[in-house]
Amino acid sequence: MLFADADLTLLFYHLLPEKNFQNKVVWITGASSGIGEYLAYSFAKRRAILALSGVNVERLENVKKHCIEIAKCAEENILLVPFEIQNFEIHEACVKKVLDHFGHIDILVNNAGVSQRADFKDIDIEVDLHLFNINVFGMVNLTRKVLGHFLERKKGHVVVTSSTAGKLGAPYSSAYTGSKHALHGYFECLRSEMVEENISVTLVCPGPVFSQITDRCVTAKLGEKYGHTQQTTDKKMATERCSELMVTAIGYKLDECWICIQPLLFIYYLAQYMPSIFRNVLIKLFFNKKTVMKMRQGR
Ligand SMILES: NC(=O)c1ccc[n+]([C@@H]2O[C@H](COP(=O)([O-])OP(=O)(O)OC[C@H]3O[C@@H](n4cnc5c(N)ncnc54)[C@H](OP(=O)(O)O)[C@@H]3O)[C@@H](O)[C@H]2O)c1
Repeated sequence: MLFADADLTLLFYHLLPEKNFQNKVVWITGASSGIGEYLAYSFAKRRAILALSGVNVERLENVKKHCIEIAKCAEENILLVPFEIQNFEIHEACVKKVLDHFGHIDILVNNAGVSQRADFKDIDIEVDLHLFNINVFGMVNLTRKVLGHFLERKKGHVVVTSSTAGKLGAPYSSAYTGSKHALHGYFECLRSEMVEENISVTLVCPGPVFSQITDRCVTAKLGEKYGHTQQTTDKKMATERCSELMVTAIGYKLDECWICIQPLLFIYYLAQYMPSIFRNVLIKLFFNKKTVMKMRQGR
């Protein structure tokens, strides 16, 4: 447990032989940077066929180029589907684009997201709506559009990048934390509806991981950027380690997994299994706002 960087179930599965992803069609949103980008490389290494989404086309082109180098595959095996996830009305056309190109989808990875830092009391409601549109309704609507195809095929796998913030509230990011908790509500329900349909749901909860997320983090006012740039010395998980663990969780169709360095992982275990003692005693003694913020920033 001392050296664990994921929940023990996931670490156990990570020791087992890898699942085969060759020629599986995997659609990743938020693939232009950070966790989604490295997930694309992890799947390319395993010869999966990829549809990659994000907003920034130039970055997506670079990710595609790198995937082709890794997989040594034909250009047609990596399809770019750039779109703004808040434009719900174009989701159906995006699904059609992937299906027209590859014929089917095996795995949808709902990964696109933005984070936030601000005091609860100061946040404009527009910021809550903005975060929910991207982090929740974007994922929910896109999944609904893909679900018909999964039901027709009688198989499919929906993956959701939540966060450890989806399991426990932390100071200064209530809209983000609210949005990640909401994902658990939506996708737990979906899982329970899909039990007899051979459609799996995997909720991935990463802790701090190197990515662009804090650069683009929003604040209490819409349009304002928190703009905290990560340092290489920060105590965060390497993006590649996170993506490799995610591939295991996806391969073994785990319902939920936590991917997080210590001591945060241990804190989440305490919060999960000793909820009252954690909130009434441990938080007050050891985890004041300043300490928690430092941990989340990897400082
Ligand atoms: N890094 C962490 O510490 C951490 C921890 C827990 C959970 N997560 C979750 O991991 C996921 C990926 O984040 P990351 O850390 O890899 O951050 P990142 O480097 O900022 O990547 C975010 C990705 O989401 C895409 N995206 C953002 N807003 C979008 C929008 N409106 N429409 C379409 N795509 C959009 C971005 O596309 P463009 O760049 O093209 O705009 C980018 O590809 C998020 O859901 C985040 O909440 C991250």
